[in-house]
Order: sequence, then C-alpha cells, then structure tokens
Amino acid sequence: MADRGFVAQSKISRITLATLPTPLESGGKLQSGANLWVKRDDLTGLGVGGNKARKLEFLCGEALDNNATCLVTVGAAQSNHCRMTAAAGARLNLPTHLVLSGVKPKQLEGNQMLSAMFGATLHHTGLDANDWANLESERAKLTEELVCSGHRPHSIPIGGSTAVGAIGYAVAFDEIIAQCNLENFVADAIVFTTSSGGTHAGLIAGLVRARANNPQKQLPKIIGIGVAKGVALSASRVAELANQTLALLKESARTSQQDIIIDANYMGSDYAVPTKAASDAAIWAAHRGAWVLDPVYSAKGFSGLLGLDANAEFGENSNIVFIHTGGLPSLFVAH
Ligand SMILES: Cc1ncc(COP(=O)(O)O)c(C=O)c1O
Repeated sequence: MADRGFVAQSKISRITLATLPTPLESGGKLQSGANLWVKRDDLTGLGVGGNKARKLEFLCGEALDNNATCLVTVGAAQSNHCRMTAAAGARLNLPTHLVLSGVKPKQLEGNQMLSAMFGATLHHTGLDANDWANLESERAKLTEELVCSGHRPHSIPIGGSTAVGAIGYAVAFDEIIAQCNLENFVADAIVFTTSSGGTHAGLIAGLVRARANNPQKQLPKIIGIGVAKGVALSASRVAELANQTLALLKESARTSQQDIIIDANYMGSDYAVPTKAASDAAIWAAHRGAWVLDPVYSAKGFSGLLGLDANAEFGENSNIVFIHTGGLPSLFVAH
C-alpha cells in the first residue's frame, strides 16, 4: 500500500504517505508591502492532510523497520496528529491505538470521528488537553499493556515530535527553498504554528544543513508562533531536537538557540482557547485566498504573521512564507 525508501546518506527509512510537493501559492501583498506566500501543507493528502503526514513518513518507516504490529500515539481530544496516525495505520494495515484527553463524547466529531472511520481504537483518559505529562504516562502504560499481551507496538510521543519525525520538516525546508527558486524569489522568513516542536526542529535542521552546504546563501528566518505551553516555549528543547535530527542525517553542523524564534504572543490564555486575533486572521485568509485555517493551530499561527507584519517586522517587498499546517477537521466540532 505504500512505497518504501531511504533518505540519501543516512539509513533512515521513509514510507510514501504524503502527496508531495505541496503547492506554494502567492498570497499577494501584506499591509506592510511584504509579499505573502502560502505553503499548502494542509494538502499533504493523508487522511484529510496536514503537517503530520511528513513526520509520519519517517515514523512509520521506523515502525516497519522494527516489525511493529501496531501503532500507539497520544494527543488532545481533537488531535490532528492522532487522526493522521490513524490514517497511516489504515494505509499500512497496522491496528492503531490513540490515547486522548477528555471523556468519550456521546457522538464522535471532527478528528475523533475520522480516527474511528480509519479504524483506530480510541482510549479516552479524562485528562485535560494540556496535561502532557499525564497523557504521556497513559501512552507508556498502554504501550506496556500491549507488549505484555504479545504485541509489538511502535509508540509515538505527542505530536510525533521525535528526531526521526522531524526529518520530515528538514526535507520540507529543502522543498520550500526549491519552490522559492522556481518562483524567482528569496524567502526572508518562514512562519508557522508550533506546538510540540517537531515541525520547528525539522525546519531548523534543514536551515542548518543548507547553511553548512552554502554559507554565502541568504536563508530565511524561521519563526514559530507558539500555541501551547509545552515544548513550544522552550527554545533549548527545539534546539536539542534539531541537533538530534542533524545527527540522524549524518550532518556535522549544529544549531544554537540563536536560530530558534518562538513567539508566544499569539497563544491567548492557553492551548485551544480561542483568540479574537485568530478568528480575524481566519476570516482574512478565507477572503484573501480561500485558505481555511483552524482556531486551535493554523489561525493562531497566521494571526502571528499578521501581527508581526503590523509591527513592521517584515520589510516592504520582502517575501514571507506561511506554512499552512492543516487542522481542518476541528472546524466542524461544536464548542
Ligand atoms: C494543524 C497543526 N498545526 C501545527 C501543529 C504544530 O506542529 P508541531 O507539533 O510539530 O509543533 C500541529 C500539531 O499538532 C497541528 O495539528
């Protein structure tokens, strides 16, 4: 059901799960006169799409290398990562277990409905969505139970944010730069939503690798807009994960915390708590390019881009790439 391959120069297995490259669309001018570009990672294809497909290509490569007999992962009740892991499990014929925050709803909606359609088993823990430590303990407990009953689970941490998963975004960095070249512009900044940090770490690994290969080349600033109080607020954790990713890719260059920009000014009071700036940003994006942003992740990330632009962070005629990381299904959940 899926092709297998390797990343050049490393022994990292990759399974084809995403439809790549995703489009890079022109978004016209921002208020400052900067040019907006939208990288459509909401269109990665796997189980309604989103950023996690890129990580899962490597995480599932690792699972098959380990002869896993099932997948386990964990997330918030409306986790996109869990839904896409369930989709990967369906594609690879691997039973998939999802450890979720919250209690079982009367009717499954959004990402949970899709996860169930993909055949995953949902384990509701009753925990809060931002109680990452206890959600991870529940994943460890379930993984152990599956081992004890004779299974070989491949157990994936929150957001798929391991060094192996982050390789997906090191590769995406190269894809973005190649598309900018084709469009005849140099990107000044890449802006995206960050939560568990794997997307960010992968992009940083891609940046550091490109810088090492060509120190003269102008490369974009990588700006993560934080939407959760976990890894996203720890530049040192993202740097550490980026360096582990570089090591896996057999690169000798390393990042330092100076590369890591996490802007937490657009999170609002907490993860998944709506902000007016995010709902305004979602309307702006829908009117400008029919881009559909979700309130938990991509709209908050885009509100950060618009906020930075309003604060004159981007020069006139500079080129700003927003990675649309997906999140569509949670739009259809009643709150
Ligand atoms: C739609 C969407 N955007 C962005 C992110 C953040 O990605 P990461 O967890 O790699 O920081 C997520 C993570 O769940 C997501 O679902």
